[in-house]
Amino acid sequence: MKDFLSVADFDPTELATVLARAAAVKQDAGAVAGRFRGLRIGLFFEKPSARTRISTEVASADLGMVPVVLKGDEIGLGKREAVEDVARVFDRYLDALALRVYDHEHLRTIADHAAAPVINLLSDLEHPCQALADLQTIAETRPLEETVVAYLGDGNNVAHSLMLGAAMSGMSIRVITPPGYEPADGVRDHAVKLAAKSGGDVEVTNDVAAVAGAHVVYTDVWASMGQEDEAEARNRLFAGYRVTTELFDTADPAGIFLHCLPAHRGEEVTHEVLEHPRSRIFDQAENRLHAFKGLLVHLLGT
Ligand code: CP
Ligand code: NVA
Repeated sequence: MKDFLSVADFDPTELATVLARAAAVKQDAGAVAGRFRGLRIGLFFEKPSARTRISTEVASADLGMVPVVLKGDEIGLGKREAVEDVARVFDRYLDALALRVYDHEHLRTIADHAAAPVINLLSDLEHPCQALADLQTIAETRPLEETVVAYLGDGNNVAHSLMLGAAMSGMSIRVITPPGYEPADGVRDHAVKLAAKSGGDVEVTNDVAAVAGAHVVYTDVWASMGQEDEAEARNRLFAGYRVTTELFDTADPAGIFLHCLPAHRGEEVTHEVLEHPRSRIFDQAENRLHAFKGLLVHLLGT
């Protein structure tokens, strides 16, 4: 069965199909209600979650599935039990496995040892379900292939998935980070290759002037879950990359603001920008629900 550990596990056509399905489901949730009645999905969280926990649990229940929510400390992935054994046990009970983990390698091990589709609900490397909702939200405002996205802040999991998804969708993405916090070279190289095929463009820079004219301005927290002890140092290093009204005003006059949430108001973005009339952060959060349904329909079959 197909896994979704990375946005790039899809080809551009599949990605577009899932996004189209997510948009259709948003218009008519009844069309897929109960479609997977009797199937069971494991939703496993090694880190905190609000949006991902709720959207995945509600989406799978709406599709008729039985969601089984598991917390990291109950399972002890790689500690209480070997990762491959956890995968084989889960696989005996569950028809789909969706996991939020610290270590992306654990997802790869699980995917290697489970026949059921494995879905990444956020790892240190990627947050692909977030990227689906991000692209869905952008597509609600303008055609993806004509869109310039400026992502500011840490070259992290959210940045990685957005880069890959944007590159596959023919978009131009500018990733603007402090020196030393650029996205991983491997992800950047992959995104550049995907963009070369789609007609998109990928730029990584340390210069916030790259926000100029962007149709989408996106940021995420400067210290991700698990990096709390770096937060103070990062707050100093990243201060010039805060999305302020002044910076947002350099974007396209119709440009939208996105944030995967949770936001740290006053750190990576000001209160004013979060509450700006062109902030789409709560549409984006809502779209996590529709995008996850679109994903499940694609992975589990119609
Ligand atoms: N955006 C997102 O994944 O939010 P949670 O961490 O609350 O799930
Ligand atoms: N980069 C953040 C995203 C949270 C949804 C983190 O990993 O904590």
